[in-house]
This record gives sequence, structure tokens and C-alpha cells, in this order.
Amino acid sequence: MGMRRTRLIAAITALAAAPAAALTVGPTLRPAAGAAQRTSGRVRAVAELVRADSPPAIGTALPDCPPTIWDADEIDIEAWQKQYREEGLPVCPIEIHATEAANAAGAAWFVERREELKATLEKHGTIWFRGFELMKDADGFRSFWESLDLDPCLDPLHTSGLRKFLSKDDALYEEVNKESLSKHYIGLHNESTFKKTAKAGAFVCFKPATGWGGDFFLADGEAIFRDLDPEVLREIVRRKVRISVSNLDFDLLDKLPPPQKEAAMRKLEQMVADGVAPKFDMDLEMLWGTDGRAMRLQAVQNAQSPVNRHPATGRPAWFCNLHNQARFLRERRPCGTPEVGMTDIYFGDLSLIPGEMLQHINEVSEKNIVTVPMQPGEVLLCDNYRVLHGRDIFDGDRLHAVSWFGDEKLQDDSAANKPGDLLNVVLNSAF
Ligand SMILES: [Fe+2]
Repeated sequence: MGMRRTRLIAAITALAAAPAAALTVGPTLRPAAGAAQRTSGRVRAVAELVRADSPPAIGTALPDCPPTIWDADEIDIEAWQKQYREEGLPVCPIEIHATEAANAAGAAWFVERREELKATLEKHGTIWFRGFELMKDADGFRSFWESLDLDPCLDPLHTSGLRKFLSKDDALYEEVNKESLSKHYIGLHNESTFKKTAKAGAFVCFKPATGWGGDFFLADGEAIFRDLDPEVLREIVRRKVRISVSNLDFDLLDKLPPPQKEAAMRKLEQMVADGVAPKFDMDLEMLWGTDGRAMRLQAVQNAQSPVNRHPATGRPAWFCNLHNQARFLRERRPCGTPEVGMTDIYFGDLSLIPGEMLQHINEVSEKNIVTVPMQPGEVLLCDNYRVLHGRDIFDGDRLHAVSWFGDEKLQDDSAANKPGDLLNVVLNSAF
């Protein structure tokens, strides 16, 4: 346990730059009854190193993110919109505040209420747990989701190299806290690709941004579905969408005589398809000139519906990363992505989605955004088929993390049917 625990503590203390800010229990908060009095992150870190009851490392046993369950045919848009308006959608997120007794019970409080909390999650889409002592550190956060019997899995973009573990052996990924991306606004999205979707996510705050901003936010996909102009919704559902995830510009090839140029384009297309696309594990198609630049090679996902029925409830929700990935919207707000990683979204036939339509979807999305100013130890348990999430720009240090859940148990054979994370390790240590 020594090495693993040392690495975890080292990662957390290094990231929570101000001494103990993320792990200290403030004077107004009570420690769990029977637990050792907590003083500071550093002191606690030392105590952790000599603990004998460290939970087992699960990093190599994590199953892949489950396949996306698509169920989007023949949805009666107007009937469902009417139903949602008449029902009055439940508040999302629903807040649950810890009581003294809940904090005294620790993880047992969650075990006892497992079924009740599951029903609450299904009804409201997201639970915001507030004031719980348990989730103030990575170990407690893991006890929290283990108590709810959630099955951790890899991130849907695990193979892309864009995801970094905060503690691999606790299935804990770091959110986008990097200073270099702090002024990059992350719009609403489900943690999903055409191929893979996590069923649920638990987002935890270990340290809010030390300067300003960095709030997490979310929006209920049923509410966005309800509020969209039915004509707009009908058209985009009928025409579907395709998301482009990267741009590679080869303007130099334009100077070649036509036969060589054509051959070079085919060769490059093949090289990218063979060498880069599998890393994303997304069924990407390599296409030239989709956005009007002839020598731009884009990797584009399959056509998909922007609306999907929830796999458990059968209720349709807006299930689309347009708000985060439409170039039209990204260029009109803080965006720090280099051109190579700039995303865009088209209709299923690759024609452009008109600006007015994007503006309308943007307005409806933003009207339904709920900002969640998370404090240390607070957790958002989020139904990823129902609720979209994002985060605002910030200044200073920030430490938020997330674990993803599917429906498969941990695997015995670490190598079976699962993408490796070599690319993650290389990219995240290099940059
Ligand atoms: Fe996300």
C-alpha cells in the first residue's frame, strides 16, 4: 500500500498548492464521531502513510466505459414537450445537506440510504451532497460511491490521451483544472461519444478556484428538450448531427501537381485513420474540406441523434454536446483550444447548422444552466444520460475530480477488452 498511498497523497498535496486548503477541516465543521481529530492535510498525509486499512488498488481492474445506448427513433416531440410542461420538472440538482447524525455515521449513512438515493437520483437527475465530512478527501470520496454500490469505469475518452487520473487506483480522474486551460470555458455536454457513455458521474470539489470563478454547472436535458422550439427540435432530430473532433491542415500539399496531391491526400487520410483515430475509439471518418478549407482533414464522428431516450426511464432528453462543441458558439466566448483541437458540429449530411438555430439552442441551454458553487467535500452525483455539465473559466488553483460509473463489475483480468492508458500517461506527463 505504501507506494500507492504515497503517490496519491503526493498528487493531492502537490495540486492543492495552498497548504492543506483542500483537506483541512475548518473550525465550524465537526469531525466524524470516533474519527481521529483532523488537523491539516500534511499531518493527515503522514497519518495516511501508516494506515493499514488502505482500500485495494482498482486501477487495472476498471472496465471500459459502457457502449452508448441509443433509443431515438420516432419520438413524439410535441407530446413529450407538453407532458414535461404539465408535469413541471423536478428541481435539478436536489440538495441534500448533512446532519450531525449523518456525519457521525460516515459511509454507513450512504449504505443505509442506497435505494432511497437511487430513487432520488432517478427523479431529479442530480443530487448535490453538501456538508458531508466523508468526501473531503479521495479515500472518503471512494467510500461514498462504494457505499452506494456504484460500479466505476473508464472515462469515455480514456484512450484519447486527454484524460488524466488524479488517482488511477481509486478510479479518480482529474477535471480540467490545468492553469493553461483555466480561461477556456467548457460548455454543456454529456460525458459521451457516439460509441461510449458513462451512466453516471460523481463530481467532487477538493478545492474551489483560489482566485475567482471555476464554478461547475449543469442543465437538465429534459428541460432543454421541453424548451426548444418544436420546429427547431424536429428539424435537428430529423437531420441528425455529426461532430468533428480535430483539424489537421495540410496546405502545403496544395502546391503539388494534381496526381501527386491526390495520392498524398489519400495516403495522409489513411495514416491518420490508422494511427490517430483508433486512439479516440470513436468510429471516426476522415474527411477533407468539410468546413470549407479544402486542405483541412477533419476527424468526424458518426451521425447521431441530438435527443435520446433515457435507458431506464424511456423519457427523451436533449443528449448532445452542441453547446460545448459548436465552433460558432466557441468563437463567441472564452476558448483556449488550438486550431488542431477545435471541434465543430454539422447536420448529419455535413451541411452547416444555421447560426440562428445554434443561437436558439444556445439560449435555451443557457436558460436552463444551474451554477453550482461547490465547496470542499461537496459532490454532484449526476445521471449522465439525463443531465449535461460544464465549468466556467477561473483564476488560480482549482482541484475538482470525477469518477465515472457503468454497470460492469471490476475485472479480474486487467488486460481484457479494455483500452490501455499509455497515451494518457505520455501526454499528461509531457504537457
Ligand atoms: Fe465532462
